[in-house]
Amino acid sequence: MKKILLAFGCLIFLISSCSKKQNIPTLSYIEEPHSFSQPNEAVITHMDLDINVDFNNEMIHGKASYLIKSNEASQIILDSKFLTIENVQADGKDTSFSLGEFDKQLGNPLKIDINKHTKRITVFYKTTNKTEALQWLKPQQTTDKTHPFLFTQGQAILTRTWIPIQDSPQIRITYNAKVQVPSQLMAVMSAENPKSKTPDGHYSFKMAQPIPPYLIALAVGDIEYKAISNRTGIYAEKSMVEKAHYEFSDMENMVASAEALYGKYAWEQFDVIVLPPSFPFGGMENPRLTFATPTVIAGDKSLTSLIAHELAHSWSGNLVTNATWDDFWLNEGFTVYFEMRIMEALYGKDRANMLARIGRQDLEEEIEGFKDAPDETKLKLNLKGRNPDDGMNSIAYDKGYLFLRTLEETAGRENFDIFLKNYFQKHAFSTINTEKFVDFLNENLLEKYNIAFNTDAWIYTAGIPDNQAIISSDKFKTVEKTIQQFVKTNIVDKTLTEGWTTQEWVHFVRNFPNDIKTGHLAMIDNAFNLTNSNNSYIAMVWYEQAINHNYRGNNIDTKIEEFLIRVGRRWYVSTIYKAFKRNDKTDEALAIYKKARSNYHAVTANTIDDLLGYN
Ligand code: BES
Ligand code: ZN
Repeated sequence: MKKILLAFGCLIFLISSCSKKQNIPTLSYIEEPHSFSQPNEAVITHMDLDINVDFNNEMIHGKASYLIKSNEASQIILDSKFLTIENVQADGKDTSFSLGEFDKQLGNPLKIDINKHTKRITVFYKTTNKTEALQWLKPQQTTDKTHPFLFTQGQAILTRTWIPIQDSPQIRITYNAKVQVPSQLMAVMSAENPKSKTPDGHYSFKMAQPIPPYLIALAVGDIEYKAISNRTGIYAEKSMVEKAHYEFSDMENMVASAEALYGKYAWEQFDVIVLPPSFPFGGMENPRLTFATPTVIAGDKSLTSLIAHELAHSWSGNLVTNATWDDFWLNEGFTVYFEMRIMEALYGKDRANMLARIGRQDLEEEIEGFKDAPDETKLKLNLKGRNPDDGMNSIAYDKGYLFLRTLEETAGRENFDIFLKNYFQKHAFSTINTEKFVDFLNENLLEKYNIAFNTDAWIYTAGIPDNQAIISSDKFKTVEKTIQQFVKTNIVDKTLTEGWTTQEWVHFVRNFPNDIKTGHLAMIDNAFNLTNSNNSYIAMVWYEQAINHNYRGNNIDTKIEEFLIRVGRRWYVSTIYKAFKRNDKTDEALAIYKKARSNYHAVTANTIDDLLGYN
């Protein structure tokens, strides 16, 4: 009987595999509102990029060639935005193609005719001066001020503005690239990288693990490499290398403690490139090569949680990727949780609690800001028809973190860690959406240990559920008392702030009473010279308070203006511009913005244009 059943089973298998069309992969991508590609019909699996980086014309031109898998489709659709498509080939022969209607958010679908045997398509293209991913910097905008610089920013949907590609986080490709740059410059990518310049400016890259298109990245500049360990190191401009090397000297320890928590680092090398100050983010987790702002080089290693954060993305985000931008919290919430665990493992609970407490205040302020749009405070978003950037705020990060921390405290850390390790292992090199995550959570944590938990309330409703973990920091309680004392006595007792860390200063500045007097701010500034702080974070929150309370001492107006012109980090500059706006000083903000805007990357400029209603 068994044999008969077995034979019958084989027959069914044969019939079903024959009745399927030949060469049909199991393509099961879900509907995704931010890409025109239809990967269930035809999907790219590997890219060979061959480009020339032309600084004189501020243009990239060349070809992107893809291996594809198709379901006998007659067309493959790529995303493209602000690109000039010159020619397209299928298996080496010219083929017909068309650009569909332009969408402000998404760009144009590039529809390429193929046949059921097509294995490779090649697109010849060039970028235009509207290309949003690229920022071309003049020598003056770099740290060393002698050579131009270029970097890309792909997340969320900008890779399509410098490479025609199926630009959905569900799609994963390996890639090789050949990049020609001026011979004085070095090129690096989210791939295996050179450690020194080549004589002819020609560079070859290989990314052997499949990654989503938003993680394809390129930087070109007069940079050098300095190793920290045999798998970690720094790329930066000459005058920045030593400072960055010192600041990030714990990078190897970070990788080791991350591995001890949630499993082996999957990408072999973990390097960081410190970019010029207009880089629009704190950091960007491009695989093998995190891109970072120089504003975290504080001189005292106090802002290195950023590195822990980007490193954590090597698991949450890069290994296990949000399937759509509506599930962005799965990338960022998990990453903040993991970041806090790395920081706790390396520097102890006090440091981790302070960081978590700062995030908790960010969350409170974000929710307050959304009081007229509470749907924005749900973890699972609905960004269809909108720019995914709209969903990239503190909710994903800090509510996501709070949810996971609450789960951890409910299930117990030991159980939670086993669960997370398993989560990363089971979903490695694939994507996950919120619904799949909830199933996995139920099966592998909640049902397993018989835990009742209000998961749906956390994910699908606005605000913060009542069972939230309480995050508190003793160090911060002391800071709060210190503020009260200074304000009450009108005297600054400097002994009370001795040995304070950056996090304590940030908490101090952010928690002045609402009715603090300008005189108090002057008293504090005279004692601590916060207006001239070399720590970008402390300076940023101090400038926000100065604007809130109309403090104009110590030439702070000039300092704020200088800061906004030099730094392009979106979170920093938008915090300051928002303060101007909130306090009916939009005109002042606009006057500065007119001078600063040309130094900003498109993602920062777009945000500030909207905020200030600039053209
Ligand atoms: N992946 C993000 C940056 C990002 C988010 C780029 C959304 C484009 C769209 C990165 O990991 C990040 O979260 N950076 C933070 C730093 C972090 C320590 C919170 C930043 O840039 O401030
Ligand atoms: Zn992140």
